[in-house]
Amino acid sequence: RVAGPCVLVLFGVTGDLSRKKLLPAIYDLANRGLLPPGFSLVGFARRDWDHQDFRQIAYEAVKEHARTPFREDVWNHLSEGMHFVPGEFNDPGAFDALAMAVKELDASRGTGGNYAFYLSIPPKFFSTVTEQLQRSGLADRTESSWRRVVIEKPFGHDLKSAQELNDIVHRVFPEESIFRIDHYLGKETVQNILALRFANTMFEPIWNRSYVDHVQITMAEDIGIGGRAGYYDGIGAARDVIQNHLLQLLALTAMEEPTSFSSEAVRAEKAKILSQVRLPEDLSLATARGQYAPGWQGGVKVKGYLEEEGIPQSSTTETYAAVKLEIDSRRWAGVPFYLRTGKRLSRRVTEVALVFQKAPHQPFSQTDTEELGQNALVMRVQPDEGITVRFGSKVPGTSMEIRDVNMDFAYGESFTESSPEAYERLILDVLIGDPPLFPRQEEVELSWRILDPVEEHWDTSKKVDQYKSGGYGPDSADEMMARDGRVWRRL
Ligand code: BG6
Repeated sequence: RVAGPCVLVLFGVTGDLSRKKLLPAIYDLANRGLLPPGFSLVGFARRDWDHQDFRQIAYEAVKEHARTPFREDVWNHLSEGMHFVPGEFNDPGAFDALAMAVKELDASRGTGGNYAFYLSIPPKFFSTVTEQLQRSGLADRTESSWRRVVIEKPFGHDLKSAQELNDIVHRVFPEESIFRIDHYLGKETVQNILALRFANTMFEPIWNRSYVDHVQITMAEDIGIGGRAGYYDGIGAARDVIQNHLLQLLALTAMEEPTSFSSEAVRAEKAKILSQVRLPEDLSLATARGQYAPGWQGGVKVKGYLEEEGIPQSSTTETYAAVKLEIDSRRWAGVPFYLRTGKRLSRRVTEVALVFQKAPHQPFSQTDTEELGQNALVMRVQPDEGITVRFGSKVPGTSMEIRDVNMDFAYGESFTESSPEAYERLILDVLIGDPPLFPRQEEVELSWRILDPVEEHWDTSKKVDQYKSGGYGPDSADEMMARDGRVWRRL
């Protein structure tokens, strides 16, 4: 899979995402030989830069963050195709200059009139930028060329704003040209959920309410909000990652087998399961939220959320969120899905765990099975990617003591192939025009439909608990599980 001739125009090239993820990913694609020979990258931003400045910034980003080794020849070749157009988003002259620049690249580098516009910019600028793309003729495709637009989350902050945002982009681009990035779908281990479920026989028979007691989806981070106060405050953990990454993980875990792996078939199954997700009636019993308080992490003293630069003292934005969901389907009736995410927790871990019912009958004595928990199948998304099966085993010795053990599959041990970074895969898919890993509007809206009542509930209650940095989240999250007679898996 190699991309055909094209230009990638990057809006928001001065941002953190560009520096840490996008520019390095583009270099890695070039290094793996997956970009076409004349591939060109145009940066557009409100900076007084020339091409050389842009190349220098990109060079530093690549040196610091690329996954593949630095190769002078690859860099030289890539940087020859890197251009910069300075301008404001509302300046027609700047967009005319951009149109001229890409046309020149078509002529000089054979990019075939194919353009992908990557909007790594705050959503409030989407309408201005898409209108300018239309006005300047940049959005007009011809019979023989394509136009694609890539948008980064947040796709709105609730259902209504997501619909408005969608209308804005749709005024200029048809749905099939819109690529919404949820970088979790670009992760190797996330895609492996589908392989595990549908390429094997032994998991499917137990993947349902007859055997599964409940499902836990965890995305824990040890980092705080960093320099992202402007984005994060007022958004919070649930909008930031539950609405997208965690609900996508839920969809892949719970959906039925698609008729094929075409994007239509996979997206249809995801949309179907998301439409069956239901919130419990009493949200005060089925949700928890918290803010990190000062604490210690890895031997370093860290600030609490309210002390972070740019965060108002009165902020009730959550940095930890837990939600219990139910699914109205034959497969999952009565099986709760517990989702949790938080910043400044004890460690970084993302996983999906199917926790199985207890054996219906134990012929062993209670004292011999004290250390026996429930069986679990854990899909470890990161950082130590793999799959763990947890089950009871006899402790060596003369008595019949039984204890939990783990059976592990680790990517690093089973494969010599290295996996591309999520953004690498997703950018390549955009350039190739392969959409299965990009949520379509219907999924985005369904996810907001699930989350909106939770946000409204929190808006009314204003309750946000404090939890210690470096710990396991607020007590209210443990209490939420305890009410159901369950416990969170240890972080
Ligand atoms: C982003 C969120 O989408 O995902 C961040 O906005 C979060 O708040 C990040 O830190 C986590 O991504 P990853 O790939 O490091 O798990």
